Amino acid sequence: MNIEQVTGACGAEITGVSLDSLSNAEFDQVHTALLDHGVLFFRDQNISLDAQVAFANRFGPLEVHPIVDGMDENPRITKVLKPAGESASFGTGWHTDNSFFETPSMGSVLYSKTVPPFGGDTLFANQYLAYDALSDTMKELLTGLQAVHSASEAYTVDGTQEKYEKKTAITYSWDDSILEEVVHPVIRTHPETGRKALYVNDMFTLRIEGMSKAESRALLDYLFVHATRPEFCCRFRWTPNAVAIWDNRCMQHYAVDDYQAFERLMYRVTIEGCRPV
Ligand code: SIN
Repeated sequence: MNIEQVTGACGAEITGVSLDSLSNAEFDQVHTALLDHGVLFFRDQNISLDAQVAFANRFGPLEVHPIVDGMDENPRITKVLKPAGESASFGTGWHTDNSFFETPSMGSVLYSKTVPPFGGDTLFANQYLAYDALSDTMKELLTGLQAVHSASEAYTVDGTQEKYEKKTAITYSWDDSILEEVVHPVIRTHPETGRKALYVNDMFTLRIEGMSKAESRALLDYLFVHATRPEFCCRFRWTPNAVAIWDNRCMQHYAVDDYQAFERLMYRVTIEGCRPV
């Protein structure tokens, strides 16, 4: 197995393995590499969806998304289809997956089948580095603060109606949990590495507890920009049959909507996580 780091901030491309036949020793190496690099990329993996599920399952049980409809064949798999001629709308903003859950997703595995000739990249941002780069005074201010996360804005904004009416390639089902709010620490400690990471994101973090609306807005606006500075990022250019796995406990990601004329088809599964502390 060859592990090659892709930027100074995060991400590694792994070659020399097939994800449908990883030995336990190889899986341990992949697991360690994920903890080291935050996101891993594997090209030329012509595997079945069952094999994608089985690979993700080695990290833990998989989730069924409460809002985004899964596939009939396996509700744990989301078919992330962007038809030619439409704008992309899934994951097209900085976020960590499902931070509005009480126990947000530990990781996600995305598998590409059809990719545009250009565009449709995914960006990733390392939230350990975002934390490390804060001043000691800002770290002190943020330590102990709690932020409110919810799906309410992301899943009710204009344009989602058609998804609930099942008129789009990716469809949603209403679930009352969309309106619920959960509270997570602004700085979380990664349960496996023990490192501290910034844990707020533009898509799902609504406000900081105990602050006025104006204070919370100003602080979150600053943190959202800081968290995704280019120095903390890597960018993956997809090819067909590539697999990415990322660690939502220390990374944010962003699907770039810049390939309107072309189709893009991916399959995504998410792995259960634990309550951030
Ligand atoms: C996601 O947010 O999981 C989707 C990422 C992508 O489609 O590139």
